Amino acid sequence: MRLRFFLAVMAGASAATAAPQRPIVIKFSHVVAVDTPKGRAAEFFQRRARELTGGRVEVEVYPDSTLYRDKEEIEALQLGAVQMLAPSLSKFGPVGVNEFEVFDLPFIFSDYDDLRKVTEGPVGKSLLQKLESKGLRGLAFWDNGFKAFSASKPLRKLEDYRGLKIRIQCSAVLDAQMRALGALPQVMAFSEVYPALEAGVVEAAENPISNIFTQRMHEVQKHIALTWHGYLGYAIVVNKRFWDGLPTDVRGELEQAMREATAYANRLAMEKNDQDLARLKAAGTTEVYALTREERLALKKALIPVHGHMQGRIGKQLIQSIYQATSFDPDAL
Ligand code: LMR
Repeated sequence: MRLRFFLAVMAGASAATAAPQRPIVIKFSHVVAVDTPKGRAAEFFQRRARELTGGRVEVEVYPDSTLYRDKEEIEALQLGAVQMLAPSLSKFGPVGVNEFEVFDLPFIFSDYDDLRKVTEGPVGKSLLQKLESKGLRGLAFWDNGFKAFSASKPLRKLEDYRGLKIRIQCSAVLDAQMRALGALPQVMAFSEVYPALEAGVVEAAENPISNIFTQRMHEVQKHIALTWHGYLGYAIVVNKRFWDGLPTDVRGELEQAMREATAYANRLAMEKNDQDLARLKAAGTTEVYALTREERLALKKALIPVHGHMQGRIGKQLIQSIYQATSFDPDAL
């Protein structure tokens, strides 16, 4: 009897002095600099996740390809070596979800309002659902912005693109886009772009200004054409098994942190791209120019046929549903 009492007291004592529970760790890997829309939004999510869960969740952010590069990061997520990523929408083809390449169609969105109609509507929702069969859960879309071309020579007229070696992300739509311009696309991980531009392995690239500036691409590219010919954004994805295994209350708090981070990311993206454009111009290493109305129209005419060519890969229905959501008419040029 005494022994039982002694054991009960000891058990109570050890429960009272038990070490605090170790936090649930979410490794969040990405490939861009800290001071970018995605980099800042990842840190915002990290902070809100800690606050809202009262420290039960610790998000570890690994920026700038320090943990994984483009292709490896998605494999790592599927294997559970990391729990959260924010790959660009152009990088889901290799996962087997080609439909995400619809976002790469040149000139498909005229502005952020158009884009929101898709990402915040039924089309965006059904796209995220397609990730489930790949062991992923899509939580949100985050903006970066509209893309400019950087190059070693001026890019004003269509002829300027002919024979130009241009780095692209791993998207068949981007490949078709560059070929429609007579350029030579080359798929390359983001971390390799700066050295490849510096060495002249490729002569040009496309990205929103915040990526060009924070990777210092303007130091090795003499020209930047503000073409705004396409959009680059992100899908925030988690390992589905990990996410479903979280305690319900924790998952709810993380969903709230993600909602807040998404609003923050999308607010910041526009601001950051404008800020970095001013900084890039002030750096004085690169000639930055906007296209004339005619030059932009010529580019648009050359690129819109890509929409038709890509129907077989990403689905006519999907493209049509975006046209409907945004009132886009590919024939009205
Ligand atoms: C790129 O590879 O150019 C971009 O996807 C990088 C990024 O994540 O913004």
